[in-house]
Amino acid sequence: VRELTIEGKSGPSAILVGESIENLSEHIKAERTVIVTDENVWDLHGSVFPDGDVIRIGTGESVKNLETVQTVYDELLARGVDRSAFIVGIGGGIVCDITGFVASTYMRGLRFGFVSSTLLAQVDASVGGKNGVNFRGFKNMVGVFNQPEFVICDIDLLKTLPGEEALCGLAEVVKHALIADAGMFAYLEEECEKARRLDPAVTERLVYDSIAIKSDTVNRDEKEAGERRKLNFGHTIGHAIEKTTGAPHGEAVGAGMGAAVGLSVRRGSLEQHKADRIAALIRRLQLPMQLPGDREGIVDALQKDKKREGDRIHFVLLRDIGDAYVAEIPIEEIEDLVRSDP
Ligand SMILES: NC(=O)c1ccc[n+]([C@@H]2O[C@H](COP(=O)([O-])OP(=O)(O)OC[C@H]3O[C@@H](n4cnc5c(N)ncnc54)[C@H](O)[C@@H]3O)[C@@H](O)[C@H]2O)c1
Repeated sequence: VRELTIEGKSGPSAILVGESIENLSEHIKAERTVIVTDENVWDLHGSVFPDGDVIRIGTGESVKNLETVQTVYDELLARGVDRSAFIVGIGGGIVCDITGFVASTYMRGLRFGFVSSTLLAQVDASVGGKNGVNFRGFKNMVGVFNQPEFVICDIDLLKTLPGEEALCGLAEVVKHALIADAGMFAYLEEECEKARRLDPAVTERLVYDSIAIKSDTVNRDEKEAGERRKLNFGHTIGHAIEKTTGAPHGEAVGAGMGAAVGLSVRRGSLEQHKADRIAALIRRLQLPMQLPGDREGIVDALQKDKKREGDRIHFVLLRDIGDAYVAEIPIEEIEDLVRSDP
């Protein structure tokens, strides 16, 4: 087990890479534990959960809302859960987001932790202290910053993960390498096939390296005033693609990273041969590089981006593999890129 720490304003958060869900109870010092999970994770892995109350929610982005939050509050009330209890979310990013929000708000806040069971949750969603739900069609519109006491990343849980879910996580792994770690990028190039198959040893190293980058970034800028923006690499256009085409997150981010690499070359900050190397890796991982067809739809979604400031937007570009920077650029320039990308 290797450990990384986030020093959050709300307290420290220990990220345990390679720990087993079977040791979960050892990390909880409370009389009562309440687990929140989803139907799939319960069916596949419920047998190794520790004894105690289990609250199950549905699956899919459409359940990540205040209604589900209320059903969990109802369950907690019905079971007489008070402030002495410890809440554990076991699941992917949706379970973690809901659990973190519920635990941070029920009775003004209970102690909580996560066991993340998807690659995306391990390398991204469960780490960093953002807990939120969607509201009126806007993603993660309502939420809180609050760090879980611990996050267990049990690589064994990923054995049951469907291929398309693995790709979503891999896109974030590539993102981390691109913005901060050229050595990790070279490792991904070497072990591309094993990474795609989620070979346990390769995956464990990639999860650790990803979290090292994310936790370091969050430690320097927990509330996203500057440095943390780099983690949005590929996501400005990626989110617009997701909204327009309903493409899975990994595919949308893959194409979004491709476009951001293209813009970095256009602006003269990244050399073409490095862009080619990046494109080759993204393709070998079987993530799309190309923007999908409905360009005007993507432009429209970009104009509605909640992170824009007037006619400009903070956009993450590359100087090199492993070296990102944030530039405030006119939305028009991104629109041009989207319209003209081959
Ligand atoms: N809080 C943050 O900082 C942050 C960061 C990135 C993403 N997110 C959020 O995370 C969510 C996406 O997370 P996700 O991709 O983990 O989605 P998810 O939670 O929906 O999980 C994907 C699917 O995999 C299933 N699953 C989970 N673990 C499994 C396992 N071990 N084996 C088989 N199936 C399993 C789930 O039931 C679900 O159907 C989005 O809502 C996104 O907004 C949050």
